[in-house]
Amino acid sequence: MPTPTTMSAASDAGEINLHAQQKEQGRASDYEDTDIDSAYGDSVASSTASLSASVLEDCKINGRTYHCKRSRGQSWNPNDEKHCEALDILHGVSILMQDGKLYLADLGDNHRVRWLKVLDVGCGTARSDFADSHPLAEVIGIDISARQLPDSDLPLNVRFDVDDITEAWTYPPNTFHYVHVRWLTGSIEDWIALYKEIFKALKPGGTFEHKESSCMIRIDNGTRDPQSALAKWGKMFISAGQKSGRTFAVVEDDIQREAMEAAGFIDIRVVNFKVPIGSWSADEKGKSIGAAVDRALQADPEGFINRPWGESLGWEEDKMMVYAAYLRNELKAGKSHAWCSMKVVIGKKPYTD
Ligand SMILES: C[S@@+](CC[C@H](N)C(=O)[O-])C[C@H]1O[C@@H](n2cnc3c(N)ncnc32)[C@H](O)[C@@H]1O
Repeated sequence: MPTPTTMSAASDAGEINLHAQQKEQGRASDYEDTDIDSAYGDSVASSTASLSASVLEDCKINGRTYHCKRSRGQSWNPNDEKHCEALDILHGVSILMQDGKLYLADLGDNHRVRWLKVLDVGCGTARSDFADSHPLAEVIGIDISARQLPDSDLPLNVRFDVDDITEAWTYPPNTFHYVHVRWLTGSIEDWIALYKEIFKALKPGGTFEHKESSCMIRIDNGTRDPQSALAKWGKMFISAGQKSGRTFAVVEDDIQREAMEAAGFIDIRVVNFKVPIGSWSADEKGKSIGAAVDRALQADPEGFINRPWGESLGWEEDKMMVYAAYLRNELKAGKSHAWCSMKVVIGKKPYTD
């Protein structure tokens, strides 16, 4: 994390404050058990500097915008509006799957939950749902890409750090009560290294929750066509991950559980979901979830495949456009009983290492 920046609800809308000076000082003022005003007011204001151009260094690939600042970490998701809209639909899916809950971890009684220090790793469009529903919690979202972060209407208890989570972390040890990760598949070379940073940054007894969805689209017997665009989707992502060294097989290879064990987490709990794609389910919940996943995929198949299939597998833009058209047609036809897995793994940092 060489040049962190902080964007905060306490700053003017759209302003990004460089945070390097605080980092050198151990950023202690941010993380002491102080009130929210001191954590998000003074400390941010004192480190304000003008926006570094490199923070917003985006590039275009086949007309789509990506974060391209030179760093080890790399996101394969476009950070443009079209893709953010698709991810927003999937955010709704994740909540529906969890029966309206933002998280599955047991974060203790109501009193304790109110005061949590929370870190959302790879926060993306950084919806402020957690901060809204826990107004006394201190929530930090960290992401490599600044463009997609909201710049207005933020609750006061949210702050954003713009940084590469695959570099060594500079959050002081034992800082957070709860760390959340969702959908970093295809972005991480060394999962155990990332989990070790999370372990270090958590307070003893703190909780880590990591949700991933499989890229493998399964199709129930009788509706399966092995040549279909739906069947091809997952295989291509798995190959792209093998080429880039950033695996997409996080769910298949049980990486969440294994990396949690390797990093020292205990009381590990795994929850698996079958997520329908399309409204073929017999039950109402499955129907509305499947319809939403279908909408998200139809909204931006190009955005999902553009970088991994283009850069790692050498697909030309035209070929990807044709594939996307086939996929949309299959989704619209709705004949396949397609689904994918979502896996949530939760672990705790022990009180003694
Ligand atoms: C698929 S999006 C998921 C966003 C969010 N977690 C959610 O559940 O909606 C992946 C996010 O991870 C971020 N990301 C990928 N690699 C990263 C890195 N090395 N450091 C920080 N953020 C990263 C991307 O910029 C993107 O916002």
